[in-house]
Amino acid sequence: MKNITVIGSGTMGNGIAHTFAQYGFEVSLVDISGDALSKALQTISNNLGRQVKKGTITEEVKTETLSRIRVFTDLAEGAQNAGLVIEAATENQEIKLKLFKQLSEICNENVILASNTSSISITKIASVTKHPGNVIGMHFMNPVPVMKLVEVIRGYATTDAVTETIMELSRTLGKDPVEVNDYPGFVANRILMPMINEAIYTLYEGVAGVQEIDTVMKLGMAHPMGPLQLADFIGLDVCLAILKVLHDGFGNPKYAPCPLLVNMVTAGHLGAKTGSGFYKYTAGSKDLIVADKFSA
Ligand SMILES: NC(=O)c1ccc[n+]([C@@H]2O[C@H](COP(=O)([O-])OP(=O)(O)OC[C@H]3O[C@@H](n4cnc5c(N)ncnc54)[C@H](O)[C@@H]3O)[C@@H](O)[C@H]2O)c1
Repeated sequence: MKNITVIGSGTMGNGIAHTFAQYGFEVSLVDISGDALSKALQTISNNLGRQVKKGTITEEVKTETLSRIRVFTDLAEGAQNAGLVIEAATENQEIKLKLFKQLSEICNENVILASNTSSISITKIASVTKHPGNVIGMHFMNPVPVMKLVEVIRGYATTDAVTETIMELSRTLGKDPVEVNDYPGFVANRILMPMINEAIYTLYEGVAGVQEIDTVMKLGMAHPMGPLQLADFIGLDVCLAILKVLHDGFGNPKYAPCPLLVNMVTAGHLGAKTGSGFYKYTAGSKDLIVADKFSA
């Protein structure tokens, strides 16, 4: 498996493309937006440049990594030679179902189709494909080149062989994969999102301010960053979408998104990627490798 196709070149897609290319894979990066693809290549180049400065890779590795990434706006062209497709498009069920139906037509029957979805059912995604046994969740964390975890999600029909291949491939990338079953939010977001939502409720109810809430969790619970800053980095639209999946999936009011989160997303304040969320950011920067970019 040498050829990897990554679909979606946003926050996660560019990190996934970067990581596979750095480990020697040929990567086809696909997006409906040519503009997003140009930005992704720039972000990858900047992030590799930072790794060179830190001394973790050489200038030569940076050049080789960039040379292994090709970009496409046409899905069929970008996916035709793939041994593995990793979908990291917008967190929207309709978009993902349409993409997987198309991929199932484009790719041959041995190709593994993975989704980086934070919360949408892998079983549901698999149900629109011809070979649901080949569909799996490969949930990378942000920023992908840095974070060690890959949450590997087995859909109802995912085969043992496909699961083992993806676990092994994740280890090849220097990651530590963890296998989980397909229920709303899987493990990571089932635990993380209620905490973020509760932090937003705490702000909404005036218990404390943004800085205070984040400081309590950083200094008191030894979290590397506060939940509100983390929400900004994840994207408030992504947080809202995941909470809706938990709310719908379990039918439990404890997952109801805080009205303040709903308002902020409606107003287009989506966090770091729009320059404004609970904190203010360098205009429109989605370059999340540097965690000290915000000013509050
Ligand atoms: N942001 C995070 O911290 C995070 C962490 C883990 C998983 N995820 C998941 O990763 C996925 C991507 O999230 P993101 O934060 O990178 O989103 P993003 O908004 O930064 O990027 C999404 C990209 O998908 C593209 N896109 C939309 N429809 C497409 C289509 N039909 N074909 C090709 N490209 C398409 C958009 O143009 C955009 O460039 C989501 O499923 C999200 O839940 C996000």
